[in-house]
Amino acid sequence: MSNRTPLSISLKGVVLSYTKGNPVLDIDSLEIFAGRRVFLYGPSGSGKTTLLSLISGILSPQEGEIHVLGHDLRRLSASERDILRGCEMGYIFQSFNLIPYLSVEENIALPCMFHASRRRRIRADSLSEEIRRIAKRLDIQDKLNAPIYELSTGQQQRVAIARAIIGSPPLVVADEPTSSLDNDRRDSFLDLLTEVVAETGSTLLFVSHDLTLTKHFEQSLSLTSINRRNAGTFL
Ligand SMILES: Nc1ncnc2c1ncn2[C@@H]1O[C@H](COP(=O)(O)OP(=O)(O)OP(=O)(O)O)[C@@H](O)[C@H]1O
Ligand SMILES: [Mg+2]
Repeated sequence: MSNRTPLSISLKGVVLSYTKGNPVLDIDSLEIFAGRRVFLYGPSGSGKTTLLSLISGILSPQEGEIHVLGHDLRRLSASERDILRGCEMGYIFQSFNLIPYLSVEENIALPCMFHASRRRRIRADSLSEEIRRIAKRLDIQDKLNAPIYELSTGQQQRVAIARAIIGSPPLVVADEPTSSLDNDRRDSFLDLLTEVVAETGSTLLFVSHDLTLTKHFEQSLSLTSINRRNAGTFL
């Protein structure tokens, strides 16, 4: 990768403790280049969700620097970090966090309702056309008017992808959204996610404890080996 390729994410000397003097994360350096699809693996409790919370500006570290999409998170207020997250990042949660009383279409539209810049970046002439285009791509076009609770788990995952990628955010992060799936469905979910993220040109950071997912990504990193808290432990 060329040195001139911009970084999407960079961490330097980042320390995060939930309780004083007992850091969960102590990361000397982590760099993720723009446009890459990266897998970060680590066992349960190793700090994957904590790391994503730092990158998305939900948590702030006690020490160190975090740059996301060219922004130094230390220089942003909490509300500026919220705007950065909403406008520039798609977040796929482990339990999807879809809004149960809204339809599929309304769930997919949410980022564009709250963030004008997401809406401005849509490719189609109107938001509803864009939702239809993405839903067709993810094979959920017949479910757009259905309430979330009528969907299968696999369909809910595809709604979560649609909501994360609408308005082409430059960064998509995903927190283990595959753990409830069998192997075949997990592989097809990952193929679809990595394909649609490649189509929008976004950077993808996907975290999981499941090392067998490595094959779906351009680059894999072990959280245990970049976390100095685990010095001497190798995974
Ligand atoms: N809000 C919190 N307050 C205190 N400790 C926390 C909090 N959130 C997480 N932790 C602790 O931080 C460590 C890392 O947790 P985290 O949720 O980041 O791990 P994880 O790698 O995402 O695990 P999993 O694979 O089970 O989702 C764990 O020891 C956990 O108990
Ligand atoms: Mg987690």
